[in-house]
Amino acid sequence: MDTGYLLSLDQGTTSTRALAVSPDQTVLASAQKPLEQHYPHSGWVEHDAEDIWQAVVHVLSDVVSCMADRGLKPLALGITNQRETTILWERGTGTPLARAIVWQDRRTAPICVRLGRDKGVEATVTRKTGLVLDPYFSATKLAWLLDDEAGPGLRASAERGDLCFGTVESYLAYRLTGGGAHVSDAANASRTMLLDIRDVDWSDDLLRLFGIPCSILPDVVDNTETVGVIADGLPAAGTPIAGLIGDQQAAAIGQGCIHPGMIKSTYGTGCFVLQNTGDDLLYSQHKLLSTIAYKTPGGVAYAMEGSIFNAGTVVQWFRDQIGLIASAQDSEDMVAALDGTGGVYMVPAFTGLGAPHWDPDARGLITGLSRATTAAEIVRAGLESVVYQTADLFDLLQRDGTPRPETVRIDGGMAANGWFARFLADICDVPVERPASIETTALGAALAAGVGIGLWPDLAAATAGWRQEAAFSPAMSSEKRGHLLAGWQAALRQCLAR
Ligand code: G3P
Repeated sequence: MDTGYLLSLDQGTTSTRALAVSPDQTVLASAQKPLEQHYPHSGWVEHDAEDIWQAVVHVLSDVVSCMADRGLKPLALGITNQRETTILWERGTGTPLARAIVWQDRRTAPICVRLGRDKGVEATVTRKTGLVLDPYFSATKLAWLLDDEAGPGLRASAERGDLCFGTVESYLAYRLTGGGAHVSDAANASRTMLLDIRDVDWSDDLLRLFGIPCSILPDVVDNTETVGVIADGLPAAGTPIAGLIGDQQAAAIGQGCIHPGMIKSTYGTGCFVLQNTGDDLLYSQHKLLSTIAYKTPGGVAYAMEGSIFNAGTVVQWFRDQIGLIASAQDSEDMVAALDGTGGVYMVPAFTGLGAPHWDPDARGLITGLSRATTAAEIVRAGLESVVYQTADLFDLLQRDGTPRPETVRIDGGMAANGWFARFLADICDVPVERPASIETTALGAALAAGVGIGLWPDLAAATAGWRQEAAFSPAMSSEKRGHLLAGWQAALRQCLAR
């Protein structure tokens, strides 16, 4: 066990990271590169897929050489990634043919509106994919790229079989194997809106609906499957790629949420709540998503998901756009000293609202301002808004019939804020746990790869060592909670009524 380490690659929305994780799940080394965001038009968000690739090579090479200095070699690579982001590349060379359309991008809202006019179509999409017709998912982004928007002739090349489509893990596996593997894992594939999650296979009906030729699709693999080895000339050449998994599903594994009923909430760019439903594929009556948590030789585990598009972006906005704080740490110090917001509420709909509203055109607002309002109160209202949205999702999960969780496991940048974690416990009226390892997403990918090469027999064994670092118990009166939530609902109604 001490002769090697698991290499984890976490290609996220704002950065690309590589980590070396020991078989006892200690992080031994890491490297990170920020990722440039491109906003060519309002509501559009793009990444340069070639930049992503260069960053991947850079961070892998840093970590692998640092570990080689210690005499250690990678046993396997696990890849986790921002989900839904859509890439088209040339089959012969791996060269991207257009900028990647990022999950946050809303340009295909009109396509969704057009298709959604037929309620039968919307119902079919939800029954097959567990998703709602929204530009968030890959299908309409891919249709947009193929319909000559990114350059003439792409559809014809696609039909000739000269192009490959994939989400980020698929593109990276392709390039890392030197074109040897065109694959996507079941969890990532379940976010494309092209996969029938009941039989874990591409749906001919959906391919027809969105006009996607099947020649460009990757093969769907298990989350703990070895898909190839890293090609010669690349860092860690010869290492098996033994785990691919979307970042939210990876975080659920890193949090040990592998038994039905367990729930995690990750606060990264957005906030994503996943509750494991085991082999039960439950459909929401409230526009939450049903998704594949993971697929292993033991079968498919499903989850219900609530997706909030803006969480960490609220803190970034305060820091980078309007300068109310100098650092994320400032926000904790500033708001913890207050009793409340003085009646101020913020709805951070910077890029529309996700679950359960699915309103791509909604935009943010701040209400309840007075001459006495301070910067700290506005910052607190921003942080509270992320908590209120989480509480709304928990409420809907239970109304959809999932069991009330005994605890909620949190991670991501905002989870480091102790005030935030306590307020979350208070408003959601549930104990909140923070893990000893804050690297839950990267850890989840490393564990998947470890299972893939047989270091552990299954995910249950791999995650058995999960430990909490801190726990937060609810202490707020139900009157106060009810009063605060009523104020939030009023602000939300204003945002939705514009
Ligand atoms: O579905 C989008 C999600 O995968 C992005 O995650 O960590 O970049 O907020 P993150």
